[in-house]
Amino acid sequence: MEQPVTDEKQALSPDRRPRPGENGHQALINELQEMRQKIMQGGGPERIEAQHAKGKLTARERILRLLDEGTFREIGAYIVQRHTDFGLDKEHHPGDAVVTGFGKIDGRRVCIYAQDFTILGGSFSEAVGQKVAQIMDLAMEAGIPVVGLIDSGGARIQEGVYSLAAYGELFWRNTQASGVIPQISVILGPCAGGAVYSPALTDFIIMTKGTGQMFITGPEVVKAVTGEQVDMETLGGAMTHSAVSGVAHFAADDEDHALELTRQLIHYLPANNVESAPAVHPTDDPWRMDSELNTIVPTDPNEAYDMKMVIQRVFDLDSFLEIQEYFAQNAIIGFARLHGQVVGVVAQQPMILAGVIDIDASDKIARFVRFCDAFNIPIITFSDSPGFLPGVHQEHGGIIRHGAKIVYAYSEATVPKLTVVTRKGYGGAYIVMGSKHIHADLVFAWPTTEIAVMGADGAINILYRKQLKEAADPAAVRAELVAEYEQKFSKPYVAAAAGAIDDILIPAETRPRLIAALELLRDKRVKAPAKKHSTMPL
Ligand code: HXC
Repeated sequence: MEQPVTDEKQALSPDRRPRPGENGHQALINELQEMRQKIMQGGGPERIEAQHAKGKLTARERILRLLDEGTFREIGAYIVQRHTDFGLDKEHHPGDAVVTGFGKIDGRRVCIYAQDFTILGGSFSEAVGQKVAQIMDLAMEAGIPVVGLIDSGGARIQEGVYSLAAYGELFWRNTQASGVIPQISVILGPCAGGAVYSPALTDFIIMTKGTGQMFITGPEVVKAVTGEQVDMETLGGAMTHSAVSGVAHFAADDEDHALELTRQLIHYLPANNVESAPAVHPTDDPWRMDSELNTIVPTDPNEAYDMKMVIQRVFDLDSFLEIQEYFAQNAIIGFARLHGQVVGVVAQQPMILAGVIDIDASDKIARFVRFCDAFNIPIITFSDSPGFLPGVHQEHGGIIRHGAKIVYAYSEATVPKLTVVTRKGYGGAYIVMGSKHIHADLVFAWPTTEIAVMGADGAINILYRKQLKEAADPAAVRAELVAEYEQKFSKPYVAAAAGAIDDILIPAETRPRLIAALELLRDKRVKAPAKKHSTMPL
């Protein structure tokens, strides 16, 4: 269906009734136009006003703001609900509680569905499910991303199993589409109960602060079952899911921000798993060598530095889009451009927990690496990996199982994998962060790199416990042993001699060296062993 009627289209105005003697075609067109106008009004002016009063836009307003002007084409606008029991017999809403169609973002095609809260609270009916299924099928056939704008009271209560079945179909399609086309969910209103599992199955979740909420059971059920008192925002708001649970990838200040983030994200994504991510004409100097990089890593291994400053100075200017900025901040993930090409960036953040890997960081890194691999996006890792976070909570929470996901994701990935070790590379935490040993293509190190089984203090304690106990001056003996250990391992040369590092860079050279490496590996092809699917640790 086309956009709403405009003044210029006077000839098709619904006010233009057929004059006596005029043939019936105009009457038919008028009827269609009246129908279109009704569809445009969704649940009617009062519901639209109520929606605005909550600080929310309508489904159609959202679509028009998200897509390039004039590109939206609606489909399925005349579908109505099949089930009219339980008081729904008076409700007749062409299109039911979702608007579906396709359009463009920055000239690139996307399929879209937007739940319409003004119609029966945006609830998910059999008909809604039918429309969403069709748009997802079209997205799969066309090989283009699908964006879901979520604002719904969940399964349409009056329809019982029919609405549940429709959700099941959606989950099935989300799973079929996973790794084939990018899927983005934008949570702009409620998303509760089992309905959360559709966004959870998609690649990215963007939530608006204050209005977007996701939870399995709401505050009242929580209070009844566990006695805990919690408000909706604390239980399942945008910041909770962005900073605490890690369910969401972006927390937007308002709807415009959420839609802008969606556009930005699409900018980095390929249309599907057989295409490359969209490159742009490079505007930044490929030979830019930022001398600040040479001194960014302190020579004192216990002093922190901001890895985001490294990222900003290496990649194309202002190209870094951080993902999950507030979750597991000891790890950094996001998309950037290198000489115009899209890359996935993974790094540790020495400013938070010294950049150690914990359960949340493992999940964050592993999932992102897998996304990049599925969608042909090369992975560039900046590794400063002092270890895994110790503690009963981490061990009992399954750091073994979660940490294994990082090893698995990197080992499985067949896209170009480049790693820069900036400082520490200790033990297993060094291996898992895209090391040569799990088949990174090229690994570079900065002169500040120290690769060892563990840090000097820990190593000396284990190796010389007895001698230290018996020494007349244990501090002096320890200092001497630490110095000897550091002399051997606190430099990248031992690792380079072993072939674990392909080159040692003056940090300022990193950008041109990564650009050259990326160019080398542009057409990398790897034949993976035949299997139905892996049994990765989950
Ligand atoms: C049918 C629904 C509905 C639903 C809301 N409405 N949810 N109709 N099925 N699931 C209707 C309301 O009756 C109301 O109609 C209109 O939508 C607007 O709702 P309000 O309650 O007035 O809006 P608001 O105050 O903003 O509250 C929004 C809400 C609340 C928090 C979402 O409506 C609510 O709690 N709804 C039920 C949520 C829920 O429990 N859903 C089932 C979740 S389980 P009128 O005509 O009165 O204005 C689920 C299972 C999925 O979804 C399973 C997948 C396998």
